[in-house]
Amino acid sequence: MDNDIILEVRKLKQHFKINSHMIVKAVDGISFSVKKGEIFGLVGESGSGKSTVAKTIMGLHNITEGEVYYKGFKISDRGVFSKNKKDIQKNLQIIFQDSSAALNQRMTIEKIIAEPIRVNHIINNKEELNKKVSQLLNQVGLDESFKYKYPSEISGGQRQRVAIARSISTNPDIIIADEPIASLDISIQAQIVTLFQKLQKEYGFTFIFIAHDLSIIRFISHRVGVMFQGKIVELAPTDELFNNPLHSYTKSLLSAVPVPNPFYERNKKILDFDIRTFDFNGVLEEVSPEHFVYK
Ligand SMILES: Nc1ncnc2c1ncn2[C@@H]1O[C@H](COP(=O)(O)OP(=O)(O)O)[C@@H](O)[C@H]1O
Ligand SMILES: [Mg+2]
Repeated sequence: MDNDIILEVRKLKQHFKINSHMIVKAVDGISFSVKKGEIFGLVGESGSGKSTVAKTIMGLHNITEGEVYYKGFKISDRGVFSKNKKDIQKNLQIIFQDSSAALNQRMTIEKIIAEPIRVNHIINNKEELNKKVSQLLNQVGLDESFKYKYPSEISGGQRQRVAIARSISTNPDIIIADEPIASLDISIQAQIVTLFQKLQKEYGFTFIFIAHDLSIIRFISHRVGVMFQGKIVELAPTDELFNNPLHSYTKSLLSAVPVPNPFYERNKKILDFDIRTFDFNGVLEEVSPEHFVYK
């Protein structure tokens, strides 16, 4: 495997059996890889399977088919996962859309941020841990006074910063951010997006950044995968995808991106993509170097 690649998803399927005659094919045979230090964007409308991809990578589902490799280890294999659980938990982190639900309301911000470090026995010395928490707060743009506050005492944007500090506290190899700005006020969204960029640029963190909004994905990602109905229909470096979109679904998404405000497109309408024209038995083909299209 390419040395730069730290995560690889191969022909992954995640199907959910709803009842005896209904299966939801939430993820249906997708492949992609993530390179060290990049922001890989995963974009698609609500219900296209983005969160299921995230959860499956994190080992939260019994995989229907396909594989997930982390640094060459096949972590989709239950045995391999259990054997390397500590290492995986330290190195794969996830940030959810709504951090209020993810943060323990009874813990101070200091405890919340320090928890993964303590659980993983990265720092045991109290004074050092205290210093590390200060440093993490600083990295996400919060001052030391936040240590002794509780999640309910701070704003949504600040809570998301805390969730980000917690996620980077173990110095993970990869952070999956699942629509991390979707529930924030518009005025705050840009600040948090900028924070992700800073963490990637200054500290070299690797992200899978999930969004339903193409304009944010364009702004932040190095490469992009476009999801539709559990499939990746197009995958390319960001500039290539936006300058030369090839799949009709990508084109329709792009046609709906308004120009004036790069962070805002709430009333987006998806134009002229007819699902009846979509072949569910297609495959992703490389049409030019690094540019893949579903055919
Ligand atoms: N645990 C589950 N059981 C059954 N269906 C699920 C489950 N998780 C997700 N789904 C379904 O899978 C599809 C994709 O969902 P999801 O991955 O949450 O999409 P997205 O994050 O892109 O909005 C949806 O139809 C959703 O209802
Ligand atoms: Mg989702």
